[in-house]
Amino acid sequence: MKEHTFEFHNGVEIPNIGFGTWQIPNEEAYEAVTMALKNGYTHIDTANGYHNEENVGKAVRAFDLPREDIFVTSKLPASIKGYDETLESFEETLSNLGMDYLDLYLIHAPWPWDEKGKDCTEGNIQSWKAMEKLYRDGKIRAIGVSNFSISDIQALIESCDIVPMANQIPFYIGRDQDELLAFCKKQDIVVEAYSPLATGEILNSPEIKEIAERTGVTPAQLCIRYCLEHETLPLPKSTHEERIIENKKIDFTISPEDMQRLDAIEDIRKK
Ligand code: A2P
Repeated sequence: MKEHTFEFHNGVEIPNIGFGTWQIPNEEAYEAVTMALKNGYTHIDTANGYHNEENVGKAVRAFDLPREDIFVTSKLPASIKGYDETLESFEETLSNLGMDYLDLYLIHAPWPWDEKGKDCTEGNIQSWKAMEKLYRDGKIRAIGVSNFSISDIQALIESCDIVPMANQIPFYIGRDQDELLAFCKKQDIVVEAYSPLATGEILNSPEIKEIAERTGVTPAQLCIRYCLEHETLPLPKSTHEERIIENKKIDFTISPEDMQRLDAIEDIRKK
């Protein structure tokens, strides 16, 4: 890993922190993304399913930086499984964003949200083949998946040509993803951490607060840095400028002793 980027197995680089836009309504997305860009974020993560692509795209296009200097990710809706449907949905995403290419495109989940756990292996393979075509056609610089388990990824590897370049998963202090992280590392798949603050739920943990205070950082910064220490790429979300600024100031390290303590924290969502 270079200092401020991760590198996919095809050589494309991705800035090592991204601005997450999940739960930012379309009406607020223009302002939030503009704030992020103004404060030095050059990596924006959206999805067709967030229903904010239109204003995310508008903000990226309006900002005073060439398109190539901003890394944009979007995702194929979890309900869409199939070759032609994927090609169609990709065109819709490009049109929503007002762009002619994407930096990273992900299958949002291995199953539709309302059928969590359903085996959609064949559909995922068809969608992945469509994504390989879009990648080969130069319309996407990198392709990957999200919320995929080891076996979901293995099914793609067995039937397709390109190993996913990224897997975007929920990862935050307390969330044990050791096995999946080790598998992705072995396959050279970059892991992106969504909900690095557990959507804000872990910020009041006494242990996190104590370590943050002692080391002179905020709980949010500690949580975001923690993801990097585990070689995952954090995607924090905020609609407040002071927090957007705070969340990007993560040029510090966490001592091995503190990492050990943080690793031992129980998942807040399982309590
Ligand atoms: P808001 O958008 O109102 O600033 P995650 O990135 O894990 O999804 O967490 C996002 C949640 O955490 C949002 O509710 C966001 O609130 C809140 N949040 C983001 N950054 C900070 C911060 N630096 N301090 C406190 N809360 C934060």
